[in-house]
Amino acid sequence: MATTAFLTITPLSPRPITTTTTTSKLPRSLSISATATTPSQETDGASTQVKKKKVFVAGSTGKTGKKVVEQLLSRGFDVRAGAVDLDKAKSSLPTGPSVDIVRADVTEGPDRLAEAIGDAEAVICATGFRYSWDVFAPWKVDYFGTVNLVEACSKLGVKRFIHVSSILVNGAAMGQILNPAYVVLNAFGLTLIAKLQAEQYIRRSGIDYTIIRPGGLRNDPPTGNIVMEPEDTLFDGSISRDQVAEVAVEALFCPESSYKVVEIVARADAPKRSIKDLFSAIRQS
Ligand SMILES: NC(=O)c1ccc[n+]([C@@H]2O[C@H](COP(=O)([O-])OP(=O)(O)OC[C@H]3O[C@@H](n4cnc5c(N)ncnc54)[C@H](OP(=O)(O)O)[C@@H]3O)[C@@H](O)[C@H]2O)c1
Repeated sequence: MATTAFLTITPLSPRPITTTTTTSKLPRSLSISATATTPSQETDGASTQVKKKKVFVAGSTGKTGKKVVEQLLSRGFDVRAGAVDLDKAKSSLPTGPSVDIVRADVTEGPDRLAEAIGDAEAVICATGFRYSWDVFAPWKVDYFGTVNLVEACSKLGVKRFIHVSSILVNGAAMGQILNPAYVVLNAFGLTLIAKLQAEQYIRRSGIDYTIIRPGGLRNDPPTGNIVMEPEDTLFDGSISRDQVAEVAVEALFCPESSYKVVEIVARADAPKRSIKDLFSAIRQS
């Protein structure tokens, strides 16, 4: 039998995830560890069947979200692909028995999102507001939408949350308040501040999180190796969306990624290191 990558959940927290404002360090037992193994055999009455682990992707029709879906499938996961526009999802995402396309507008609240997440065991959030006349869109999508997703996870008992954010979200505290990227991105609806608030909500929620802050996103294939730094370190640089998706999916396999905020860019002169090693070098926040 071919070796397939799978999540293994070890052991689950004895207490439910809360969305309260506790800031204490979280028990390490909450973390999802992942190993490359043969598919787990789950017994259902007399028959034995192989059950694949399932991941929900919010923003699956986006340029990063689509790559996340593709990489999850190539790593042997089933995917629930959350989309606002089902027609767009059906025409742009891979199809097949391992993909369920489900309507998921993150502004619609945790109950609807819980239905969309369904029986997934982890959530990857790759949403980003659409530019429009609505200057509150970053707050509706990037902040409240993320809060809604985390609350949906809490309702369902989903323990693992991978979130795509951005470098410079904490630019003011980094002394980067005049950085052109910080100025431009906040000029419309205080986007980076909304994203920082979303991160802070995730971190307080109790969920086992990995927050990935990429530099400027490129749609072309990777040209350099991934550089991973702790939060509030990088203020420029770019990275291929393929590499962002790779880090997000690989995080599911790395207990070393739990409760961490990482910043990533790609550089031609950086040494090639495994994503597990990169995560290992970052301290928990
Ligand atoms: N662009 C950059 O250089 C850059 C740099 C660093 C970080 N980031 C961040 O990285 C993330 C991914 O960026 P990207 O450029 O790949 O994103 P993108 O292509 O703009 O995709 C965003 C996704 O979010 C979805 N979305 C919008 N409103 C939604 C809602 N109410 N409910 C559910 N989904 C909704 C979009 O749906 P539709 O497809 O229907 O529009 C789309 O699938 C974003 O958070 C972005 O802020 C971007």
